[in-house]
Amino acid sequence: MRINKYLSGCGIDSRRKCEQLVLDGRVRINGKTVTALGTDVKDGDYVEVDGRAVALAQRKVYVMLNKPKGCVCTVHDEKGRKTVLDFVKLKERIFPVGRLDYDTEGLLLLTNDGEIANTVTHPKNMVKKVYSVRVEGEPSEAELKRLRAGVEYNGVKYAAAQVSVLGTENNETKLEITVTEGKNHEIKNMIESLGRRVMFLKRTAIGGLRLGGLSRGEWRYLSAKEVEHLKSLR
Ligand code: URA
Repeated sequence: MRINKYLSGCGIDSRRKCEQLVLDGRVRINGKTVTALGTDVKDGDYVEVDGRAVALAQRKVYVMLNKPKGCVCTVHDEKGRKTVLDFVKLKERIFPVGRLDYDTEGLLLLTNDGEIANTVTHPKNMVKKVYSVRVEGEPSEAELKRLRAGVEYNGVKYAAAQVSVLGTENNETKLEITVTEGKNHEIKNMIESLGRRVMFLKRTAIGGLRLGGLSRGEWRYLSAKEVEHLKSLR
């Protein structure tokens, strides 16, 4: 990108005024003063005006993805596996808000707004995450009571959860579990603590935002109202 357009995109001034900054020798790229108006700024260049670093202001974007199984919640995977960014191709550098396991599906938020990501994931905000879970067999009332009181697994404590039983079929029980902590493998470990296994796991809501009718692999932008709502969870 041309240097004057870049500086203007950083919110320094109009493109014409930014040209003047360049001509006046007030702009450096990677430590070298540039005075040619035809200079281009490339990805990764370090740009300064009057000795102060500047950077392009990115438009804030907020996305909800229905993450399918078989992809990881990272920006880049060293093992070359599919990532959630293979489903959401935007020019802004977005990242996933929290994590779902490789074999878990459902609602995942992605954004380039670090503050909102922090609000949603910080345990002190106790943002509710709702999961649709199928577990092996039929948990007894006593087991459900343990989940509702909080369990411990491999030395990690999991806080009390809301649990409803939606039905039993083919030796599997469908539960809806609401948690507020966001620990790694939270639901699987809670169920493992009962000596049972999770057969299927899907997140259906975060902080009141619901997945709704999004199909697997589909995404949409959040509405302004939804973004405001997430901000209010602080
Ligand atoms: N709990 C889990 O065990 N896995 C997930 O992906 C999300 C919550």
